[in-house]
Amino acid sequence: MNHFQQIYATEAATYHRLVAAEDTRGELAAELSRVAAAATSIVDIGTGTGRIAIPLCQAGMKVHGIDAAPAMLKVAAEQLDSCDGDWKLSVGDARDLPVSDGWGDVAIAGWVYGHFTEWWPETWQAELDQALAEMDRVVRSGGVEVVIDTLGTATTEPAAPTPGLAAYHDRLEAMGFARTVLRTDYRFDSVAESIELLDWFFGLGEWGRQHNEALVPEFTGWWERTR
Ligand SMILES: C[S@@+](CC[C@H](N)C(=O)[O-])C[C@H]1O[C@@H](n2cnc3c(N)ncnc32)[C@H](O)[C@@H]1O
Repeated sequence: MNHFQQIYATEAATYHRLVAAEDTRGELAAELSRVAAAATSIVDIGTGTGRIAIPLCQAGMKVHGIDAAPAMLKVAAEQLDSCDGDWKLSVGDARDLPVSDGWGDVAIAGWVYGHFTEWWPETWQAELDQALAEMDRVVRSGGVEVVIDTLGTATTEPAAPTPGLAAYHDRLEAMGFARTVLRTDYRFDSVAESIELLDWFFGLGEWGRQHNEALVPEFTGWWERTR
């Protein structure tokens, strides 16, 4: 199990604490609201602890979240419990979604497929193509497909953090996804929390110690295409 798989298997609550501090400018939230305004059902692929599913459920969308890690879904279920809307969570794989053909008006995969480049360095292109084919299958004709992924944390310019991620972004764009750059800075409760969580997830504690900031710059890519 690698660093991130270990986190998703055993430290879901801390992951949720990290992402709760993200998007202090509300740019990601605005994109989610835009998508929600024109849709009623969403497949949230790699839903994690529900950071995308929760606002979309609260906006009245029917949400089906799927994730490979049961511990992440347990936290998502606790969070979604207070949403009166129609939501469902399933353990499953992004490359073989437990969703019927054309069920969703929208599918979103947030910070999921990028892991393939690290977890399967030899075959990630084929795994990504399979996941995108599954995304295509579960979205109705004319629906919206969104991939969200990192363009860098604790950095001043948006850029893929690794050559593997750059190749993944290129592949998305070759497949018709158009990129929008979002600013998704973190605002932690304290400098100490910033250092703790940056170190824990990204190994960026040194940045936190040098900058002594509770506000941490971050860029995120939003890739979108119409099915
Ligand atoms: C960085 S988290 C993102 C979670 C959530 N989308 C968010 O925005 O916070 C990545 C999630 O993708 C899930 N994941 C990774 N590979 C997966 C796969 N092949 N199928 C389903 N889930 C996967 C992990 O278990 C983890 O919960």
